[in-house]
Amino acid sequence: MLSLLEPTDPSWVQAAEADLDGLLRDHAHCELKAAQSALGLLGRFGGEAPEIIEPLVALAREEAQHFEQVHAELAQRGAELTSPASDPYVQGLRRAAREDHREAPVLLDRLLVCALIEARSCERFKLLSERLGSERLRDFYRGLMASEARHYGLFRGLAEARFGALARERLGVLAAREAAVAAHLPLGPTVHG
Ligand SMILES: [Fe+2]
Ligand SMILES: [Fe+2]
Repeated sequence: MLSLLEPTDPSWVQAAEADLDGLLRDHAHCELKAAQSALGLLGRFGGEAPEIIEPLVALAREEAQHFEQVHAELAQRGAELTSPASDPYVQGLRRAAREDHREAPVLLDRLLVCALIEARSCERFKLLSERLGSERLRDFYRGLMASEARHYGLFRGLAEARFGALARERLGVLAAREAAVAAHLPLGPTVHG
C-alpha cells in the first residue's frame, strides 16, 4: 500500500491501545512536526522551487489543525501534552535516505521522505481505524487516514512533477530503506514505534 514494502504487524494496535494517552501524545507531536517540516522545506527550497509554496503552506495549516484535534482528544481524556520524545523512525529514515546523498538532489529526498512518513502514518491510522475498541477513536483515525493518504500523494506528486523518472526510481530505493527502518523498531505506543 502507498509504496510501503513492509506491512506493520497488526499487534502494534494492542501496544498502542495499552497506552492511548501515550499514543495521542506522540501523535500530537507528529502532527506538529509535520507542520514544522513543511515550513522548513518552504524556507529552504521555496526560492528554487516556488511551486511547492502554495501546497505546503496549505499542508502546514492542515497539520496544525490536526495537532489541535489530537490535542482536544488528549484534553478530553484529562491528559496533557508532554515534551516531544525523539522519533527513531523519522531519524533513521532521514539518515538512511542520505547514505548515498550524491545519488539524488536534497529536495527530492526531502519530498520522498515526507511522502513515506505520510504513507506509514496512513497505514498505521488505517489499522487504528479498523481495530481500536472505541468507535469514536476509530472514526477519528479514519478521517486522519484519508488526510495522510492525500498528503502522500501530494509529496509524491511534487517530487515527480519536478524530477520525473528519477523521482520514481528514487522512491523505490527509499521505500526499501524505509521498510528496513520500520521493521527494526519495537512495537510500542507511538505512531511510528
Ligand atoms: Fe496530519
Ligand atoms: Fe500528513
